[in-house]
Amino acid sequence: MRLLAVVLVLLGSLTATTPVVAAPVAVDSGQHEVSYDKYSLTVDGKRVMLWSGEFHYFRLPSPELWRDVLEKVRAAGFSGVSLYFHWGYHSPSPGVYDFTGVRDVDRLLRLADELGLYVVARPGPYINAETSGGGFPAWLKTVVGRARSSDPGYTAAYTDWLGHINPIIARHQVGRGGSVIAYNVENEYAVNVDPAYMENLQRLARDAGIDVPIVHNNCCGGDLANWSSGRGAVQIPGVDDYPQSFDCRNPDTWGPWGHGVTRRLRDDAPVYAAEYQAGAIDLDNAGYDKCRELTGPSYMKAFYKNNAIASGATMYGYYMTYGGTSWGWLPQPNDVYTSYDYGSAITESRQLTAKYDEFKRQGYFMTTVAPLTKTDAATAPVPADAAVFTLARANPDSRTQFVLVRQADRAGTADLATTLEWSTPDGEYQVPVRVNGRDAKILVAGYDLGGQRLVWSNSEILTHVTVSGRDVAVLYGRDGEQGSTVLRYDSAPTVKVLDGEVRSSYQDGDLRLDYVHAGLSRVEVSGGGRPPVLLLLGTDETAAGFWRQDTSAGPVLVRGTSLVRSAEVKGNRVTLRADTDRATEVEVFAPARHLTVGGRSVPVRRTSSGSLLGALPGPEEVRLPELVNWRHRAESPGAGESGWTTADKTTTASPIKPKSLPVLYTDEYGHHNGNVWYRGGFTANGAEKTVSVNAITGRRGIYLVWLNGRYLGSAAGGVQADSEPVNPDPGRGDFAVPAGLLVDGQQATVTVLVENMGHNDDWTADDIRHKQPRGLFGVAVEGATSPISWQIRGSRPTDGERGPMNTGGLQGEREGWHLPVLGAEGSDRWQRPPGVMSPGVSWYRTNFRLDLPRGHDVSLGLRFDDTTARGYRVLIFVNGWNMGQYLNGVGPQREFVLPAGVLRDHNTLTFAVIATEAAQDGPGPVRLVTLGNHRTGAAPDL
Ligand code: GAL
Repeated sequence: MRLLAVVLVLLGSLTATTPVVAAPVAVDSGQHEVSYDKYSLTVDGKRVMLWSGEFHYFRLPSPELWRDVLEKVRAAGFSGVSLYFHWGYHSPSPGVYDFTGVRDVDRLLRLADELGLYVVARPGPYINAETSGGGFPAWLKTVVGRARSSDPGYTAAYTDWLGHINPIIARHQVGRGGSVIAYNVENEYAVNVDPAYMENLQRLARDAGIDVPIVHNNCCGGDLANWSSGRGAVQIPGVDDYPQSFDCRNPDTWGPWGHGVTRRLRDDAPVYAAEYQAGAIDLDNAGYDKCRELTGPSYMKAFYKNNAIASGATMYGYYMTYGGTSWGWLPQPNDVYTSYDYGSAITESRQLTAKYDEFKRQGYFMTTVAPLTKTDAATAPVPADAAVFTLARANPDSRTQFVLVRQADRAGTADLATTLEWSTPDGEYQVPVRVNGRDAKILVAGYDLGGQRLVWSNSEILTHVTVSGRDVAVLYGRDGEQGSTVLRYDSAPTVKVLDGEVRSSYQDGDLRLDYVHAGLSRVEVSGGGRPPVLLLLGTDETAAGFWRQDTSAGPVLVRGTSLVRSAEVKGNRVTLRADTDRATEVEVFAPARHLTVGGRSVPVRRTSSGSLLGALPGPEEVRLPELVNWRHRAESPGAGESGWTTADKTTTASPIKPKSLPVLYTDEYGHHNGNVWYRGGFTANGAEKTVSVNAITGRRGIYLVWLNGRYLGSAAGGVQADSEPVNPDPGRGDFAVPAGLLVDGQQATVTVLVENMGHNDDWTADDIRHKQPRGLFGVAVEGATSPISWQIRGSRPTDGERGPMNTGGLQGEREGWHLPVLGAEGSDRWQRPPGVMSPGVSWYRTNFRLDLPRGHDVSLGLRFDDTTARGYRVLIFVNGWNMGQYLNGVGPQREFVLPAGVLRDHNTLTFAVIATEAAQDGPGPVRLVTLGNHRTGAAPDL
């Protein structure tokens, strides 16, 4: 491993002087060589700007939609994706692995490759990610030996996982014609570390044929163990950073957790911002829109641009770019609920937000302007006003300069206008700049922009393309701000203002254009010894309206549509797969005369800008059915004789020992997900006073208790039984025994339903958090004189298609009441709802038919409008898929995204309702809602 690392580094330095090419190479089936040096990754010697977004396939159980999301990621200018692989999602029990259907990661990697997205593969074994067990399978809790260490028990378990996932990753590497460009071992392995374990992970990867650079994402800015040197070190150590915190309730917060990625961890490797904050978990139930605000465009401008210039990073992973849904029992319950929207640029329902626009502005720049892939710190021009801060980098070969301009007071909100004394590669200039509030700009000087020479500009560069021998460049600035751009010519060129107000002057080789950013101005410059250029001078908003797609005939630019998924130029025709969210004009800069969008030829005329202009229709209206004709079926507490296991274990691998014996932890009996029923039998003496229960469910979990069929009540489950400090009493509930219920000498039964909200993570790598039990922690009947003999009945890992995390151990789940086609009993047992909800479990079921417009991407959700404080929660099954849990009165989630694929034309919606008190009516009102509607150029319906 060490030797290989050295070879790769050497290769990297040999290629350091080759011409830079930053735009991602469309990954083809040929073989390529990945290397790196201190500046960047390289592929066949060409530098790569790895601008990647994090995507969790396991949070989108619809592989058809993986394409949708990844096309959106690609269209924003991302050159890569970071992909966790979730061990527990693939492994229901030791030695059993499933990579089919929604788990088909081979398909995922093929798709990334097809779309030209590089992949940072992150197979853990531990991934954190606010998912159950931090990605560990729950059965690992019963394996002896500390997880995330060299302990033999854990080693055998993860070796098996990597033995399955590594070969899949290996065959999709760049070197074998795929797009995997880096391999991430472990995850924020920062405390309680074991270097031998880190070494072994890398050895296993190499043995499996992983030959791309091995990276790691160090936690918290790099100060904890960061694996940059010594035993277990990786080739490219990266840093995770979440400067905005997760305090979504205060979205105006500004960087309480630091500055960003500014440090280099290794002299011979690029700076890698492995996970950089692009959203937040909603720890305090503020709702994800607030998290989106907390991490919105001004934060992105100020922090992301600062990173780029402070560190020269050329490897980025933005966490999350699309968050998705923690469907089934995927959530790690202490930090998240069903939605993992994350306040991301692309919402859970796959809609593009203002953050997406900002990603596009920065991503197009980062992947267009090649000299950014190799920069050193440089002397920054001095601003006349010290309240403005500047920082610079320069490419040592082209001498192109990049100057960051922001407020000196990082949190400052003043509107500052000043002048920079700028010594550019093409001479000394006084450059006016403005920073209005929480903003930041990267200004460029000395740049060969296509066939032009950009001397300097105080507008920022979005992107530029060359179409039919003419350069087309999009520059932008905030609406209303002054802009100036200076281009160099051999002689005075001809300047034609096609749109907007732009003043021009020419002196000593410099053509200077002055304007105010407003709408979209257009200037054509020709002659002067250079190829012609069309400058499109926009605002933040109008610039973000452009889409760039690369075709075999060169890049094309499109404006007007809500998305461009792909473009192709054949002969005289440019064909787009593009979406619209309203009727719109469409403008295309392409080497073509005809336009096809979404399979239809679009009449176009040629504009004075040399583009094609046509009109596109918006989407048709979506009509949704009402949810009516509900049927109902009650699940009797602990009913039925089949499926029970005697629970009599007296030992556990968990370092957390139970309060009373036997050990009743659900995992000890192979029930890892969802609800579990317990039955305890004892001989009564009539003097019993109280049933005292301790149960651990994870945050927001509950349990319900019956005695001899009489409902005693419910309580909140505990989060964990800490060993330090000792918390012997997690999730305690005391339930009075009703007088006369128990009779001396007669058999009594205590029945308990315990929810398992998902498993704790193992961030601390100490087993204390991770091996916290689920289920009953202890039960005592005060006054009883005979012992309780216990039985347990939980989930059974049967559902191959939807996987083990889809269902728990409710009777209805075990008997398939949630499935579209009912079992032998059919629908006879389902009746009209009784008009009241009784404590315990009851099931509701209805069917609905969707008639959505064809050729559209319609995103639907299910909304709960109940505002009464009634104690109930709902497991939502759509065609058998558990799409999450609605917690009435607990919140904050009321809307559940139902992805196409899970939704079909004919649908069955089933609710498992767990009520803790009797209440009028059912769990209503509930309705389907439209969360997005686009006419789409994607040929098949999404
Ligand atoms: C990081 C971790 C990610 C995720 C993130 C917070 O520490 O690596 O997996 O948990 O924090 O959302």
